[in-house]
Amino acid sequence: AAPDELAGRHVVVSAGGTREPLDPVRFLGNRSSGKQGYALARAAVARGAKVTLVSANSALPDPAGADVVRVGTAVQLREAMLKAAADADAVVMAAAVADFRPAVYASGKIKKRDGQEPEPIVLVRNPDILAELSADRARLGQVVVGFAAETDDVLANGRAKLARKGCDLLVVNEVGERKTFGTEENEAVVLGADGSETPIPYGPKEALAETVWDLISRVLDQSTNT
Ligand code: C5P
Repeated sequence: AAPDELAGRHVVVSAGGTREPLDPVRFLGNRSSGKQGYALARAAVARGAKVTLVSANSALPDPAGADVVRVGTAVQLREAMLKAAADADAVVMAAAVADFRPAVYASGKIKKRDGQEPEPIVLVRNPDILAELSADRARLGQVVVGFAAETDDVLANGRAKLARKGCDLLVVNEVGERKTFGTEENEAVVLGADGSETPIPYGPKEALAETVWDLISRVLDQSTNT
């Protein structure tokens, strides 16, 4: 890719996984490392974009040249994304967002008591940030990209999810032993709202990031030229 391909563009990437606190010491979380989102942020910097990386609980070092915003929960991630997306040309939701959060946060540590059954954990829905970003585009021609991890009927589930979320591109990963969560490698199919289908062979997350930006640049150029 040309080093100036995204020059003058502002892109926003979310990465990592949200943590939904139960009490001051415990949370509901997921296995996302942030590697794919960080690779996307680095690749966009290399293409000349102004990059905002909204990072949820990742242990990775800040990518040089990116503006990093750290968040914990899905609600915080939503706030940060809506703010950063206001003037963005492209928004990529690579973060693993908890669908649910505990209905109540205990301000003191939840204790076990002799002879007492544990209290059930009641969950409430988190906002669907990708669907919201897609429905309320902050800017004309803004490109919105989502990720989906599927274990079966990958393509059919991916198509349905693309339509439901309303995004332009959906990167569909098959969750497996050697790929996706916490690994260095990934394999995916990128589904486009225009019906396109781009397979990305098993390989480093950096390579997947490059292909995703190629596809985003194509959509951006189309909307700029028409
Ligand atoms: O619905 P599902 O979790 O499979 O969708 C995955 C995609 O939606 C990812 O891009 C993820 O970042 C995004 N998502 C979101 N808000 C949620 C759940 C998922 O933005 N509450």
